[in-house]
Parts: sequence; structure tokens; C-alpha cells
Amino acid sequence: MSKPLRKAVLPVAGLGTRFLPATKATAKEMLPVVDKPLIQYAIEEARAAGIEQFCMVTGRGKTALVEHFDVAFELEATLRERGKTAELEVLRDTQVEPGSIVTVRQQVPLGLGHAIWCARAFIGNDPFAILLPDDLVLADKPCLSQLADVYRDTGGNVVAVTEVPREQTNRYGILRTGKDDGRRVEILGLVEKPASKDAPSNLSIIGRYVLMPEVITYLGRMERGAGGEVQLTDGMARLIGKQPFHGLRYEGQRFDCGDKIGFLEAQIAYALKRPEMADAVRAFLTRYTDQPDFVVSAISREAV
Ligand code: G1P
Repeated sequence: MSKPLRKAVLPVAGLGTRFLPATKATAKEMLPVVDKPLIQYAIEEARAAGIEQFCMVTGRGKTALVEHFDVAFELEATLRERGKTAELEVLRDTQVEPGSIVTVRQQVPLGLGHAIWCARAFIGNDPFAILLPDDLVLADKPCLSQLADVYRDTGGNVVAVTEVPREQTNRYGILRTGKDDGRRVEILGLVEKPASKDAPSNLSIIGRYVLMPEVITYLGRMERGAGGEVQLTDGMARLIGKQPFHGLRYEGQRFDCGDKIGFLEAQIAYALKRPEMADAVRAFLTRYTDQPDFVVSAISREAV
């Protein structure tokens, strides 16, 4: 029987430079998709998969991430006074068990592998999940729950994978694949951000992982990989052959919210999933697509 999966690490130390100026004074993980910050989607997905303990690997200027999951006493008192029960209900989802979130600092930006290594005391000897909050996965069964099922079945490492266009392999961790049943694929090798001509496949890792604690030993060697950084992918590659290692073609749609277009697409997709908004969103989308000069004519109408 494999050890239960109860811990998750959330690397949130990144500067979010792609979203400046929005991220000048706020954490990029606090950017909302519709009305919920990215970090909350990640925590909710983790809880749904049975995670009980969280470690955020933070950096300077990230205090809002911790505040977000705290009790907001004054705000709640004011809402209660004003009888705003729906709003109070919304806040309930931001409350976690006391003591279930810890933070560690990544003092220097040495890469994702280094960020995970910073959480080593939290991880101890237990299996753990990693969620990169930039990656949102819209799915009937949450992506991490799908991975957790495979972990329970194989007792080893599992990462979420998806096919990417050949010319984009240099943005991702890429798999060298073994036995493949169309859903679950055995991993024989991993390369971080290879040029398309060197990529062993076009199957890429997205930001959901279930890993065994032994990966920390390899990350601790601080070997520099792609981009001069300590790469999680390189640490994971060392486990291959020693422990089961699988990729799961998850069911769902992934949005890269670290990218402006991906982020905008996520807004639309998540809004369309909300019954109270879907019709209005569909109506304005039709207006924009059927009448490309809609905005311009609206502005000139106002100017008159
Ligand atoms: C990281 C990982 C990469 C993975 C990607 C998924 O890259 O290093 O292996 O494919 O996340 O989003 P980053 O996006 O931090 O450059």
C-alpha cells in the first residue's frame, strides 16, 4: 500500500514579469480568473484531491497570498452586520484548517527545482503534490485527483502531460516515452525545454505533479540545467529506473495563465461555466466576433 498523499507544495516566488505593471505591487498568483485568484483555484483543486497540508514557496512581496487564506475578522464582522450572507459564504472557501498552510522563502531565484528543494523540511519522507498556480485545468474531475488515482495504482511518480505543437517543446519539460495505453504513459526520460529538433516527443509536462520525496536528494546537488537554473525536470529524471514514473494524459482543458492570451482565454472559459454569466458573455462575444468594428463604433457613438 502506498503512503497517503496529504501534502502539496505551491511554488509562488516568481516575479510575474510577464504581467507588469499589474504585478508590480501584487503577487501574480493573486490575479483573478473571473473573481477568484489563481492561488485559490490551486488550493481548492488540492483539497479536492485529499491534500491537507500546504507549503507555499514564496518570496518578497507575496504576503497577500498568506493573508488570502486567513480569517478577515473586520471584513466578516462588517458583512455580518449588513446581512451580506452570500458574500460571507463566498469567503468561507478561503478558510483553511488552522496551521495547514506554511510558507518557506526562496531567497534567490535559482529555478523551480531549487524552489521545491526549499520545501524539503515540509516534505520530509512523504509523497507530495506540486501545483503550479499559473496552470489552470478546467475539468470535471480535478486534474490532481486524476493524478492521485494513478499514484494509488502505481505507487510512484506521476506527472500531468499533454501534446504540444512541435515548435513549442522549448517551453516545457518533455517526455521520452515507453509503454503507452493512450492515457497512461511510462516515462523513460525527461528533458527540460529541448529545441524541437532535439525533443524526444511532443508530450509535455504541465504544472501538476505527484512525486516521491527522494527527488529532493537530487535537487540538493544544485546542478544547473536549462537556462542556468536548477530544474525540477532534471531532478525527476534521476528517479527514472529507480521508481515507477508515469505521465497521465489528464482529461480537461489547460490554460497557461502565465501568458496573456492564455489568461484571457481562461477568463472566457471560466465565465462561460458560470450559469449566471454564461448568456451575457456569449452575447458580447458574438457582438465582438460578428461586428469587428463594434468597439470602435461604440467609442465614436460616445464621442458624439
Ligand atoms: C515549468 C517546468 C516545465 C513544465 C512547465 C509547465 O516551466 O520547468 O518542465 O513543462 O513548468 O507549465 P516554466 O513554465 O516555469 O518555465
